[in-house]
Amino acid sequence: MTPSEPLLHLRDLRVDVGDRSILKSVSLDVPAGALLVLMGANGSGKSTLGLTLAGHPRYHVVGGSARFAGHDLLALSPEARARAGLFVSFQAPPEIPGVKNNLFIRTALNTVREARGEAPLDAFDFLGDARAAATRLGLPEAMLGRPVNDGFSGGERKRNELLQLALLRPRLAVLDEVDSGMDVDGVRAVVQLVQALRAQGTAFLVVSHYQQLIESLAPDAVLRLDQGCIAEAGGLALASDIARTGFVRAAEALSA
Ligand SMILES: Nc1ncnc2c1ncn2[C@@H]1O[C@H](COP(=O)(O)OP(=O)(O)O)[C@@H](O)[C@H]1O
Ligand SMILES: [Mg+2]
Repeated sequence: MTPSEPLLHLRDLRVDVGDRSILKSVSLDVPAGALLVLMGANGSGKSTLGLTLAGHPRYHVVGGSARFAGHDLLALSPEARARAGLFVSFQAPPEIPGVKNNLFIRTALNTVREARGEAPLDAFDFLGDARAAATRLGLPEAMLGRPVNDGFSGGERKRNELLQLALLRPRLAVLDEVDSGMDVDGVRAVVQLVQALRAQGTAFLVVSHYQQLIESLAPDAVLRLDQGCIAEAGGLALASDIARTGFVRAAEALSA
């Protein structure tokens, strides 16, 4: 990555799911350490963008380019993307029956640590860090010993995504409605974790509909996705305009 190159650089990214074109032309930059909020009506393609960046095989990139941390992102396997420092949370985190949560997270963590040239953590050291992070996030310690998300409530699944984020310390975190279904303590924990990671240099692309969270995060920019394109970019005023007028009227005002 040259000093002037943003951490994430998307140009005219076009993505199909099945025979439908979902992302028509997405261009955006996330500078290193920045925090951008991505808004957009239901079905506008926010989760499609996150899962495409993660390398989900259902999302077919049919045009455009994506560079991340000096790499051609689209040429990397999902695991190579993670090793390069990309983290994408699921809007609906899946269950992985039979795979113990603490082993899952420690395996992921030691893989990214290896890529960063850091020594692996043994089970004892990992558990100490994981318990401390789980406590900060209000996730009961017992969840570490259960299969990944197996029988977890909606809020517990979201906290488990945040636990992975806290331990992995990525260069860029894409958080997909991580606040939805969370109680007030959970939302506060999101803000605190994001602030702590930003202080260590992590950049964020945060998908949220929740005005109070967006304001607390003090984003560098707010983007609105509409019909598969970034239709508008602004500051917090854009988020409050959308909260006041809704997505439909926001789009109409722009085209008037
Ligand atoms: N696996 C899929 N199969 C069919 N359609 C999909 C699939 N994933 C997403 N879509 C469609 O793509 C559009 C964008 O979805 P999504 O990215 O989830 O929107 P958002 O996260 O902004 O609400 C929607 O119309 C949705 O139905
Ligand atoms: Mg979504």
